[in-house]
Amino acid sequence: MDKLVITGGNPLFGSIEINGAKNAAVAILPAAIMASKNKCVIDNIPNIEDVHCIERILKSLGCDIKTKKNSATIDSTHIASLSANTDDVRKMRASYYLIGALLGRFKKASVELPGGCPIGVRPIDQHIKGFEALGAKVKITHGSVMVEADELIGTNIFFDVVSVGATINVMLAATLAKGVTTLENVAKEPHVVDVANFLNSMGANIKGAGTDVIRIVGVESLSGCTYSVIPDQIEAGTYMIASAACGGEVTIENVIPKHLESISAKLVEMGSEIRENGDSITVKSSGNLKGVNIKTQPYPGFPTDVQQPMSTLLTVAKGRSIINESIWESRFKHVDELKKMGANIKVEGRTAIIDGVDKLTGAVVKATDLRAGAAMVIAGLIAEGTTEVLSIEHIDRGYPNIEDKFKALGAYIHRECE
Ligand code: EPU
Repeated sequence: MDKLVITGGNPLFGSIEINGAKNAAVAILPAAIMASKNKCVIDNIPNIEDVHCIERILKSLGCDIKTKKNSATIDSTHIASLSANTDDVRKMRASYYLIGALLGRFKKASVELPGGCPIGVRPIDQHIKGFEALGAKVKITHGSVMVEADELIGTNIFFDVVSVGATINVMLAATLAKGVTTLENVAKEPHVVDVANFLNSMGANIKGAGTDVIRIVGVESLSGCTYSVIPDQIEAGTYMIASAACGGEVTIENVIPKHLESISAKLVEMGSEIRENGDSITVKSSGNLKGVNIKTQPYPGFPTDVQQPMSTLLTVAKGRSIINESIWESRFKHVDELKKMGANIKVEGRTAIIDGVDKLTGAVVKATDLRAGAAMVIAGLIAEGTTEVLSIEHIDRGYPNIEDKFKALGAYIHRECE
């Protein structure tokens, strides 16, 4: 198992480039199998394990995939199997998008229940509710979700909770349903909009993505297209937080500043300086920041996916900060690791109360999940002495070249292979 070894205390200076969005790419790649004609060429795909995992799953279904740098050409005209049941499917969350994609195109699928980070219960009842409303029969047996329909018929669906996964999954199936589907109380995350834009480039008729209501006029078939994935809001947010925590001045290139507003606003409230310039954002910080309160919310609220990196920053901010995690009930597993480094944090249910300390000190810690891993890397960067972050396979699932990017900013960080 690899580990990251970090000697902390250096301010960060320079610029780095953000890659394509993980949570858009892991939905767009499965959506590509809905093209019954022509190939999809998808650019700006991040080089991360979750993407490799989806690519292997698509190959197992009979897709022909050629990858080159950050681009993939996918020919799904000759799909041989409607059953996804490899270890890769069980390992990751986004494999559930195969259900909506296969159901839409073939009206049938069998997909093993998905895995993903251990951050909460992660039900898929809203996905199932949507598929059933479109006319599919859904059965869960032997750990697989089986869906089947004679035909899918457009209808009105009001989601009980705002869910990124359910919004995208039901949108995929509804794209090839007969008639009009209206999805209400949907997620508005940038990656939801990106998937809708991708489907429209393939010939779908989807309007309203990015608002509370998405209206889909079903089409007969979809055809391959060329598409570029949006920049990763969460990767960008993570580097912004790291820059604020370490002090210095860092320009983060290839971002959409609008997607980062809730993060920028908190960093400014803490005392950092943020400058937006076209598709880049610069964070300047003295490293001496004040504590703030945060409540994670669906977009455009503060994203749960940067809550853990942010909590590391708050461990050394002046005064008391309170984090309310309203999306995932178990997203504080990294707190025990931060405590090993001297953080003063108390968790009560979905709330973390953080009293800022003068410094963290290096320790051997582990990445308990993907974003917890990023949080521990940031902790290592600000801590006195040396930190070893173990279980970094979690980090590799979602952050491309994390040690190279931090090294480019002047951090002392390297990977050791054991
Ligand atoms: N929920 C339900 N029923 C459902 C679906 C969701 O009750 O059928 C609840 C969940 O329990 C949760 C809330 O709704 O409390 C939101 O869940 P959502 O469905 O939005 O999450 P997801 O689609 O499983 C995606 C991202 C997560 C990110 C969340 C929230 C992907 C592959 N994953 O998960 O990303 O935290 O949206 O924004 O897109 C990460 O990247 O580190 C990550 C965990």
